[in-house]
Amino acid sequence: MTDEQLSHLGLDMGRVIDRRVYTDPHIYKAEMTQVFSRTWQFVAHESELQGPGDYISATIGEQPIILCKGRDGSLNAFYNVCTHRGAVLTTRRKGNCGAAFRCMYHGWTFDQEGHCIGVPYPDAYGQDFSRDVYDIPSIRVETFAGLVFVCLSDDIGPLEEYMGEVGPYVREVVEGTESLGRVRWAYDGNWKSWHENFADNYHPEFTHPVVGTGYRGIEVKGNNYWLDEGHGMLRFPPQRDPQRIVAAMRETSGLENNISDNPLWQRPPFDVDFKQDHRIITVFPNLDLQFMTGGMMNIIQVLRPQGVDRTVVELLALGTKGESQPAREWRLERTLDSQGSTGKVSGDDNEAVVRCQLGFAASAVPWSNMSRGQEPGKVGGKRDEYSMRSFYHAWRRYMGEHAL
Ligand code: FES
Ligand SMILES: [Fe+2]
Repeated sequence: MTDEQLSHLGLDMGRVIDRRVYTDPHIYKAEMTQVFSRTWQFVAHESELQGPGDYISATIGEQPIILCKGRDGSLNAFYNVCTHRGAVLTTRRKGNCGAAFRCMYHGWTFDQEGHCIGVPYPDAYGQDFSRDVYDIPSIRVETFAGLVFVCLSDDIGPLEEYMGEVGPYVREVVEGTESLGRVRWAYDGNWKSWHENFADNYHPEFTHPVVGTGYRGIEVKGNNYWLDEGHGMLRFPPQRDPQRIVAAMRETSGLENNISDNPLWQRPPFDVDFKQDHRIITVFPNLDLQFMTGGMMNIIQVLRPQGVDRTVVELLALGTKGESQPAREWRLERTLDSQGSTGKVSGDDNEAVVRCQLGFAASAVPWSNMSRGQEPGKVGGKRDEYSMRSFYHAWRRYMGEHAL
């Protein structure tokens, strides 16, 4: 499509995206250096790292890293790589290294800050051998409202500044929470498709039968926000009709049993403010947060690309610090019922993003439309796409000459 054709359609480059952003390996490769190495990247909730030696491993872009709690309580990040001959120090996502990581290949050891502290049989390296040279390069770590981020670049400003306009919204929903655990799954599609889907409220009533049923006949309220520097938000009041969902499930299952016997349909064992908005927050480039009405289900999802058409989603379920065991169990059940590769909601989204990746191969249709919402400014209706356009506005800036 030429610029002339786009303007004829009332569109401009800010409202469509060339589908090669999801399929071109050169663009993907450029994203690793231009975007993933130059942004603050979420790694863990600080409650996941309780004592010395606790660690989380992750990939930033495709670079393996470790976040580890030191003896003094500090959080240290360094590359997950042995400086001897390159083996990763751990293949576990989470664990405790004890006093040190020991490489499984030749037994070199590295402390909780990545310093090289042990080399077996060092005499053969000669008298001038210095272990310090083999310390693993460290990585910047900063924390925001209990969320721990790393940044591979020294040239990017502090995390607080990076969060910018989205910061207060993230703080509001995350403060006072703790991690209840993680699940991860993969889909055959580009990482950006999931991030877009998260802030897309045009799709749910079609993609998710369980959501669409609840909204039938209801005037939909809520807003979609462009937040600066690639962030975004959806915010809407609780207004679905649960009785419709119950009726639809009875009809589908053919079961007459009282669905309220199912613990998932009972009131949660903690206080819920049913007037509180549902919030979906997207942090540039690959972090998504969802806080459901009254804090009933709070999740974080972070996207770990594994190639131009393969992505791992890591999900953290969050609870309120110090709450009871039944409350935690209820939240976990509720989260896994709808989220994860088999969840009633995420399962449908998996299908949608995989179908898109398949469709992108049709080169005669090279553009995707993201133009919903015509009001100037940064706020539209619930089904509008201001947040998506904010993402690509920032993406183009980060990608520079590599953008399409
Ligand atoms: S590769 Fe790690 S000790 Fe040799
Ligand atoms: Fe969805």
